[in-house]
Amino acid sequence: MYHVAYVMKFASGNKFLFLHCIIHLDMEKFILDTEVIVLTYNELNSSQLKLIETAFKACENSYSPYSEFSVGSSLEFEDGEIFQANNQENAAYPSGLCAERTLLFYAKANNPHKEIKRMVIAAKNHGKATKQPVSPCGACRQVMLETANRQNSPIELLLAGADKVYMIKDVKTLLPLQFNAESLK
Ligand code: THU
Repeated sequence: MYHVAYVMKFASGNKFLFLHCIIHLDMEKFILDTEVIVLTYNELNSSQLKLIETAFKACENSYSPYSEFSVGSSLEFEDGEIFQANNQENAAYPSGLCAERTLLFYAKANNPHKEIKRMVIAAKNHGKATKQPVSPCGACRQVMLETANRQNSPIELLLAGADKVYMIKDVKTLLPLQFNAESLK
């Protein structure tokens, strides 16, 4: 028997939000947790704030005439260099690309050996910052996972909403039960 269920839980004070993915396989069960830390802007350090500002700024160059949903993403390499990108849409809809993949492919194409320390996602709906932080789509999570697996250190992810930020300490935890290079052996 194979069954998958997702459960959401809020811990005291709304400080932590846990996403549980429960997999039942042949009557056995294991639980995969993703820790998401909910922060307000005054709890962030100056590097985090700068990177969030960069991601919101990147929304302005988004090419999103079809959805009018502009997504900006930014990253900081371990040496402090910052890259930014945004979603690029197309009249042939599937030919467009999300902000996160545009950013990761561009940044790593030009810096294949540099490690990424932190990444931010921010979005504006019809020009207004989304109240809730926006989560990356499945395809972008897969690319973030591959990028994190290429380096020895975790990539911190900040999802920026209008007045709160979700922090995930390692992008890999966003995609439990991963398909990776090991799966091909
Ligand atoms: N989008 C992103 O850029 N990143 C995501 O993680 C989710 C969605 C873009 C794709 C499309 O241009 C627009 O947002 C609406 O889906």
